[in-house]
Amino acid sequence: MTLSLPVIERLDETPEEVAGLTAEIHELARRRNAVVLAHNYQRPEVQDAADYVGDSLGLSRQAAKTPADVIIFAGVHFMAETAAILSPAKRVLLPDLKAGCSLAATITAEDVRRWKAEFPDYISVGYVNTTAEVKAELDYCCTSGNVLDVIDAIPADRGILFLPDFFLGAHVRRMRPQRRVEVWMGECHVHKEIRVDTLNAARARYPDAEVLVHPECGCAGQLIYEMGRGGIAAEGLHVASTEGMIRAVTARPAKRFIVATETGIMHRMRQVAPDKEFIAADPEAECAFMKTITLANVRDSLALDRYHITVPDDIAARARGAIDRMVALGK
Ligand code: 13P
Ligand code: SF4
Repeated sequence: MTLSLPVIERLDETPEEVAGLTAEIHELARRRNAVVLAHNYQRPEVQDAADYVGDSLGLSRQAAKTPADVIIFAGVHFMAETAAILSPAKRVLLPDLKAGCSLAATITAEDVRRWKAEFPDYISVGYVNTTAEVKAELDYCCTSGNVLDVIDAIPADRGILFLPDFFLGAHVRRMRPQRRVEVWMGECHVHKEIRVDTLNAARARYPDAEVLVHPECGCAGQLIYEMGRGGIAAEGLHVASTEGMIRAVTARPAKRFIVATETGIMHRMRQVAPDKEFIAADPEAECAFMKTITLANVRDSLALDRYHITVPDDIAARARGAIDRMVALGK
């Protein structure tokens, strides 16, 4: 799959069109015994049409246990591949093949093999945002939701190769300073742009707001560092996966939150906490890959049985152990 940044299409569907497409999706899904899984960054109307909305970890767990025959993945390619590995008997469809991931594209299986050869006794841990070929080289897979649980499951005397996200790797190093962790220099094109000065400007405007930061963000490492040395109060600052953020907005008493991640998540936040206010740290933080998925192409994927995501058996068999460990570890 070639990776170029898609242009985000601004759809101006009327409420009637949205309702019509949603009804078509539900009817086709019922006929095909399909389940629609959507990531927290999806367009609002796609989230609303889905059977389950969640983070990478939650979606993987749903894919592993669903009794459906068909999984429509309203997310990006690596998520659909992970579902195909977890549920080999099911047909996994991705509505648009342009739904790649700039972070997953920063490392190849060959890169991993070379890196492992340099550190032969290290344990390799890869973020779920990787291709199936990369996962096939890994000892453990993780998501932002369970990265520390995965690190803690590895014997304390073993060094760790962490890939591909540099900021998440820096987060691991700061949270587990006693561990030997080598970090790959990959980054997500959306999150790297959310920087400390952007976040500070939002905090200055809304001093009463609590702050939710995804660990892939450019600002995350510096914030954690400052919290660690007492430069920033830890109270009201949460570094969390997308689902961890959803839990925080209901669990915390605050009425206002600054959200440092892809803005699509704010739709779900408004649904789970309608009496609270959500402010994007960076209103331009949109993932063009996630936004390739629309109601129309979800409908078409069900109607036309496209695009079927498969992983060669040998790659799937080798990737499966790392993915199973990811699904099993953490809340
Ligand atoms: P989560 O695992 O937190 O849902 O994040 C996935 C992702 O792609 C972040 O950019
Ligand atoms: Fe990949 Fe970044 Fe998009 Fe997440 S937000 S899917 S890491 S490009």
